[in-house]
Amino acid sequence: MKAVIPAAGLGTRFLPLTKAQPKEMLPVIDRPCIQYVVEEAVRSGITDIVIITGRGKRAIENHFDRSIELEQRLEENAMDKELQMLREIEDMADIFYIRQKNPLGLGHAVLCSKKHIGKEPFAVLLGDDLIVNGKPGISQLVETFDRMGGKAVVGIERLPRESLSKYGVISGEEIENGIYHVDDLVEKPPLGKEPSDLAMIGRYVFPPEIFGHLEKTPPGIGGEIQLTDAMRLLAKQEGLFGQIVEGRRYDLGTWFDWLRANIELALERPDLGTQIKSWLQESVCEKKQ
Ligand code: UTP
Repeated sequence: MKAVIPAAGLGTRFLPLTKAQPKEMLPVIDRPCIQYVVEEAVRSGITDIVIITGRGKRAIENHFDRSIELEQRLEENAMDKELQMLREIEDMADIFYIRQKNPLGLGHAVLCSKKHIGKEPFAVLLGDDLIVNGKPGISQLVETFDRMGGKAVVGIERLPRESLSKYGVISGEEIENGIYHVDDLVEKPPLGKEPSDLAMIGRYVFPPEIFGHLEKTPPGIGGEIQLTDAMRLLAKQEGLFGQIVEGRRYDLGTWFDWLRANIELALERPDLGTQIKSWLQESVCEKKQ
């Protein structure tokens, strides 16, 4: 299976940080968030990856490309560990880049991959969702996709009511533990109008029919082609499942989750954990008393 990672958005919620650097390159500890997403795909056995980029996104291509001068310097200085780390990033997957000339929405970004994907099912992973789990998030959905006879599957998460208006929310019936048959989807429902407490997260497995629905989807809010609109057609015509993804999820499109991801992942690292923990205890717990 191939994977598509849309990364051509403008990142307006992260300004001014994202004025001259892609949101997908924001660091979480020692690597840009898009690297975690590529690693998740690779750990799921997906090594043909299309990244949808746009103007100002060169840093993403450079990150996964060879860096000859840097490698030469590391070789000269016998920095073998660092050299191996770079080579692992460069050889991780076959990465292809497609330019979305105008950021006309997530749906349009996915549509840009149509020629590369062809008539096969494919996975979509959004760079601003980080899932930390032993079993990669997208592989959980791929398994369900196969088991359900090739019907689309979207990752979902149960959220408190007050957070739902930031996400697409599904309505449907639970058919197995954590798996829902989706009847409908609403993008960013106003408070009190949510069809459930199940929000979609940025992990999907689609059959190629999604492209036909995207082509028929007119621009919606803000002139953007919404992936949710095309998914609503897919749900009605071919069928769609929602699956609660196991693992910790960080919405790196928000300041709070981005900071939380950095702190929580740092706490788990042998080289940083003890130091961060005692700093947190001193600066948060003791100050509070
Ligand atoms: P978001 O709406 O979260 O990202 O899209 P954004 O547009 O970059 O951020 P804000 O809302 O302005 O702060 C989810 C994903 O879809 C990609 C983004 O790069 C992000 O990874 N995307 C969005 C595209 O590739 N093209 C688009 O036209 C829109």
